[in-house]
Amino acid sequence: MIPQSFIQDLLNRVDIVGVVERYVKLRRAGANYLGLCPFHNEKTPSFTVSATKQFYHCFGCGAHGSAIGFLMEYGGLGYVDAIKDLAQSVGLVVPEVRSERGGQSAEESAGLRETLFNAAQYYRSQLKDAAHAIAYLKGRGVTGEIARRFGIGYAPAGWQNLAAGCPDYNAPALVAAGLVKQSDEGRRYDLFRDRIMFPILDQRGNVIGFGGRVLQAEGADAAAQASPKYLNSPETAVFEKGRELYGLFQAARAMRERDTAVVVEGYMDVVALAQHGIEYVVATLGTATTPVHVQKLLRLARRVVYCFDGDDAGRRAAWRALENTLEQTVDGKEIGFLFLPQGDDPDSYVRRDGAAAFEALIGAAMPLSDFLVEQLSSRTSLRSAEGRARLLQDAKPLVKRIAAPLTSLLVRKRLAGLAGISAEELDVQYEIRRKVPMRAKPKPMVRRSLARTLIELVMLKPGLAGFADRSELADFAVVDIDPAEINALNALLEVAAGDLHIVSMAEYFRGGEHEDLLRSIEADLPVWHEGRFDDAALEHEFRDAWMQLLDQARRARARALLEMSRQRRLSAEEQAELRQALTAAQK
Ligand code: UTP
Ligand code: MN
Repeated sequence: MIPQSFIQDLLNRVDIVGVVERYVKLRRAGANYLGLCPFHNEKTPSFTVSATKQFYHCFGCGAHGSAIGFLMEYGGLGYVDAIKDLAQSVGLVVPEVRSERGGQSAEESAGLRETLFNAAQYYRSQLKDAAHAIAYLKGRGVTGEIARRFGIGYAPAGWQNLAAGCPDYNAPALVAAGLVKQSDEGRRYDLFRDRIMFPILDQRGNVIGFGGRVLQAEGADAAAQASPKYLNSPETAVFEKGRELYGLFQAARAMRERDTAVVVEGYMDVVALAQHGIEYVVATLGTATTPVHVQKLLRLARRVVYCFDGDDAGRRAAWRALENTLEQTVDGKEIGFLFLPQGDDPDSYVRRDGAAAFEALIGAAMPLSDFLVEQLSSRTSLRSAEGRARLLQDAKPLVKRIAAPLTSLLVRKRLAGLAGISAEELDVQYEIRRKVPMRAKPKPMVRRSLARTLIELVMLKPGLAGFADRSELADFAVVDIDPAEINALNALLEVAAGDLHIVSMAEYFRGGEHEDLLRSIEADLPVWHEGRFDDAALEHEFRDAWMQLLDQARRARARALLEMSRQRRLSAEEQAELRQALTAAQK
């Protein structure tokens, strides 16, 4: 965990305007900056960035957040990576983060990254002098430009080449990074020899590993088969295959622009498609697609298409991808499955039939729900009741994992249709409770609750916490208002009363139980806070809301005690409390 004091310090130093301007053209408009919203399509700008409040807000689509949030939402970075990115931009060093994987220290990870970066530089420099490696790449249609885009290099033949490429061949980091092995006799040697090197980058562009391919064509001769076609560097503190995707750093921009992400199986598929102008493509690293992969891609694009070979192995791989995706589905986003003709991979396909043909395949990919139903129904005969029962039985655990409620409903309807029962009957079997249809009720007037008002005010001016007596909050709990708001208010007051300077409360409470509430309140702030910067007015409003809340609480308590007195005799204490509450309420 990164300490909150650091995050708030960071947000204090970072200027969100500068961060957003890296990606969005902004112009000054009064106290704020204005631009075209990067989160939805628009012709007139409704995306504002407030330098004073240090957050962005779109009046068109409601996108809202801090500089950290912006890098996560727009840059597609994870929380820790977003913080690291910002810290780097203002020259701060993120304090020791114990990574969840392996408990390595930040220092060790930095050492690994540096070693891997050096190696990548070295491999790249070696490609220039390796005529046979260049010829191999040319033969596969890879130009110098694309080789540079992916940082492709060459590891020469020989056992200790990295000694020339690294400052210290005996450095432990070389072994830790998996670039160098040590024999039982203690002799060191390079893992990658006479291979085309594909550096694997994380989302921020750091080298975290390599894939190395032999130069022989597939199935060329017996000697080539002796060693695997691809060698991959091992998982380390900075490289976890289930989290990383080959080509993501290069593809992120195109994924956002096209709102589409394509996942293929091979390094060369990514490279070949980019060579043909299809840049929104990544490859898994010899593993199945994981939920983390899907999450990363769905942050960047509304549509994710998995591309598989048309053979049985491809179908099996697709099925595993489907299983790992069900829980990540979101209504309004699409997961598609594309099966190539037998014997093709994306590389061979695009080289033969061209980019337009491949993009047409992507456009026509089979939606996840179709693939699910198709696969399940192909496994049984729907002609018999037993077969149809089996279909429903097989589908049950999968359907229950579909996170997107509308998609789930539509799949259930289709399954019910195939089995010849009603959707209601199916839901009974699946133990799915239906939402009672809401009768059209007139919408009640939304009254801003007092607790919410208090939260807003403290967010605007944490110093107001000094006027609150938190011991009185216990009284508020009995009032028939949202306890979540009271609890959040309590937490907020406690933090605001401390000496930590908080820039964004919602950011402070990220990951905690109050986050959603505070985030939604913070999102509304810029809409109404302009012109409410008069300190005296804010203070007055705060005290007033507090007194009203206290008053409401006392009345509620009095009512409760009166009600109780009709059921039983009140204790002396309770009687005293009732008298007090009644007199207070009379004021
Ligand atoms: P492929 O053999 O489909 O890869 O394996 P490719 O990129 O199409 O290879 P070529 O260069 O065109 O022949 C798909 C992925 O499986 C992993 C690699 O990640 C590869 O990109 N793999 C494959 C290995 O890790 N080791 C192997 O020996 C083969
Ligand atoms: Mn291939």
